[in-house]
Amino acid sequence: MIELNIPIRLRRNRKMEAIRRMVQETRLTPSDLVAPLFIVEGEKQRIPIGTMPGVERLSIDLAVKEAKELFAQGVHAIALFPVLDPALKHPEGKEAWNEEGLLARAIREIKFALPELCVMADVALDPFTNHGHDGLVNEKGEILNDETIECLIKMSLMQAKAGIDFVAPSDMMDGRVGAIREALDDAGFEHVGILAYSAKYASALYGPFRDALKVRLAFGDKKTYQMDPANAREALLEAALDEEEGADILMVKPATLYLDVIAKLREQTKRPIAAYHVSGEYAMVMAAHQAGYLNAEKVFYESLLSIKRAGADLIFTYAIKQVLPLLCPFQLNILNFDQRQN
Ligand code: PBG
Repeated sequence: MIELNIPIRLRRNRKMEAIRRMVQETRLTPSDLVAPLFIVEGEKQRIPIGTMPGVERLSIDLAVKEAKELFAQGVHAIALFPVLDPALKHPEGKEAWNEEGLLARAIREIKFALPELCVMADVALDPFTNHGHDGLVNEKGEILNDETIECLIKMSLMQAKAGIDFVAPSDMMDGRVGAIREALDDAGFEHVGILAYSAKYASALYGPFRDALKVRLAFGDKKTYQMDPANAREALLEAALDEEEGADILMVKPATLYLDVIAKLREQTKRPIAAYHVSGEYAMVMAAHQAGYLNAEKVFYESLLSIKRAGADLIFTYAIKQVLPLLCPFQLNILNFDQRQN
């Protein structure tokens, strides 16, 4: 064999699991994760979502049970998405601020059962409008900014009264964070946080989510309010504005195709960053897993790790059941010691 002089051998730090774990730069833990839950009316309802294998729409009683199980496993935050009866959908999304509606009841019952769980919910009109847009629409089919903000305020106040911990405006109207902050403060809800979907792209990866909520766009697309996937500087501007307006947490969405945006935002802000590992990111991996092309658990773990490595502090993901067994608290497999193979 040839004689080599290799003074720096990085493989020494990869020699065994105990060392690999000591030198691990990024660690994913259950408390980094936020579980999105789809809520339906009724009792003991558990309705599969065709495009999201493994994810179900749950009635409030089962959502409470699910939240308790997640909490016991270290996942301390959930985000609620109501699946509305089509008969309740309305051009102005009035059900969005109904204090006795499905979302309000879900927030109340879950916070009552688990006061220590952090409960969040979207603030946007799309689950509640029959046209499927996030805002009010005029006769020309334009999405109205300032008029929509009035609705978002009503929706935020309803959620605050029901006991929400974070309202999460996901609508991308200009100026909504400041307006919601002011309205919450004026009503005595200064303790309610705002997680702003700051850089939310007009992505093709939301399809399964819209299937889950049975939201169908009656016309057009969301490109006049959600961002162009080509733009990163603009994401920094959106986030800076939301921060100035009082957002407590800034979100980038989707996550894995936008890791550069997360990394750039990490350099700009001292605020926590959330990333949304969205329905399409989940569905692609599950489809490949079901076809036998790859292992979903490992791909999800790697994906979520990459999102955290890029700079996200918290991650919304549907892949919690798949990754939980792979997360901290780590337990070294005793076999590794017995085999003495290193
Ligand atoms: C609603 C909303 C959407 C998602 C979260 N909140 C869809 C959309 O904007 O069309 C997508 C989440 C996902 O795909 O998992 N504004």
